[in-house]
Amino acid sequence: MHGPAAQTLQAIRGMHDILPERTGLWQTLEDRARAVLEGYGYQEIRTPLVEVTDLFKRSIGEVTDIVEKEMYSFEDRNGDSLSLRPEGTASCVRAAIEHGLVSAPRRLWYRGPMFRHERPQKGRYRQFHQIGVEVFGLAGPDIDQEVVLLTQRLWDTLGLRNLRLEINSLGEGDERAAYRRELVSYLEGKLEYLDADSRRRLRTNPLRVLDTKHPDTQAVIAGAPRFLDYLGEESQAHFDRFCAGLDAAGVGYEVNPRLVRGLDYYNRTVFEWIADGLGAQGTVCAGGRYDTLVARLGGRPTPAVGFALGLERLVSMLEAGPPPPDKGLDAYLIAVGDGPQAKALLVAETLRDASPRLRLICHCGGGSFKSQFKKADRSGARYALVLGEDELARGVIGVKPLREEGEQSEVALDQLGAFFATRTSN
Ligand code: HAM
Repeated sequence: MHGPAAQTLQAIRGMHDILPERTGLWQTLEDRARAVLEGYGYQEIRTPLVEVTDLFKRSIGEVTDIVEKEMYSFEDRNGDSLSLRPEGTASCVRAAIEHGLVSAPRRLWYRGPMFRHERPQKGRYRQFHQIGVEVFGLAGPDIDQEVVLLTQRLWDTLGLRNLRLEINSLGEGDERAAYRRELVSYLEGKLEYLDADSRRRLRTNPLRVLDTKHPDTQAVIAGAPRFLDYLGEESQAHFDRFCAGLDAAGVGYEVNPRLVRGLDYYNRTVFEWIADGLGAQGTVCAGGRYDTLVARLGGRPTPAVGFALGLERLVSMLEAGPPPPDKGLDAYLIAVGDGPQAKALLVAETLRDASPRLRLICHCGGGSFKSQFKKADRSGARYALVLGEDELARGVIGVKPLREEGEQSEVALDQLGAFFATRTSN
């Protein structure tokens, strides 16, 4: 080839390839989460990655970081404003209303990539993955308790310790409004101690000031009125029963009155699971109740609760533990000579018929016995299967163990399925 070397291209900043060495951990996490979710009767829903921008504005809130500055929005060829989904709740609610899934209690779950134009750092990416849960049609604290118990079971299943649970109640709209007035008047008296961002938020979304990472503002917040003192009777009773449910189940938690969440749709119960070992981006699971969202998006008033797991963060916790089960190759089939090479793929097909779980590579591309055998060895397979002219003529195949001592033996082609029935690795 001539001419200047083509420039290589790279993945977009904050968006990552998940390479084969690491997909085992992802699969372990996804498989176990799915088993737990199915064990609680949750059904999977899949929605598009792209939705009209308005859906996210109306659900997450116009004056949130996500909508103000983090969405991947673009104009479609016909002029509609579309966005890559920054989270799954909005799409799930949209789909549930559209397909009539909110009329009876429904337990749904989903997984997939989400997109937010945040500043990339460890644990924070521009494309990241969530497994999320949304439950429609149940208003009581019992279902809030169930979703937390489900996450606790998932941590146990994955062998994850050192996660702590923070909970709070955001009350109802009018309770929040009353609290917001008190908070704003308190903070206005301390303006000189607030960072610029918090001063801006004071005007647009004052509850978010509670969430500040700025030390001076945090000191001011420590003396601020507490939201839990503004809860009405019913919200208080809901929260008390939620807490009592967690106590009864032996799930430890801390009430964090400053836990406000970065999305506007929440009311009453909110919670986060935090892994302190992960540093600044330690929240691995977050969610809560959002009883007004279905109606605000045009559905019948329907109570709802849900959460989402941040998979990248969970995978990095799993990396510290034992490696996932080996899903290596069982066999690598090599064929020497024209006749065997012409037959090899067909022999492999017969073998797959007889032993559907077999993990088998059939060598392609020809070459000498020696070079093929080297490839078999490098593949990590447990056995090399050797098909030569002589074996082909006699209806047998040579079987040579690659990972342990042992001579090459011969197995009749029609007995290979039985041979591998007791030897496949999964
Ligand atoms: P969220 O708190 O925005 O909530 O995200 C949930 C989790 O996704 C976070 O706790 C974190 O683990 C992960 N996550 C968020 N942003 C990033 C990022 N840039 N990079 C890596 N991981 C990230 C929601 O998305 C709500 N939809 C949860 C929910 C469902 N509430 C009710 N139902």
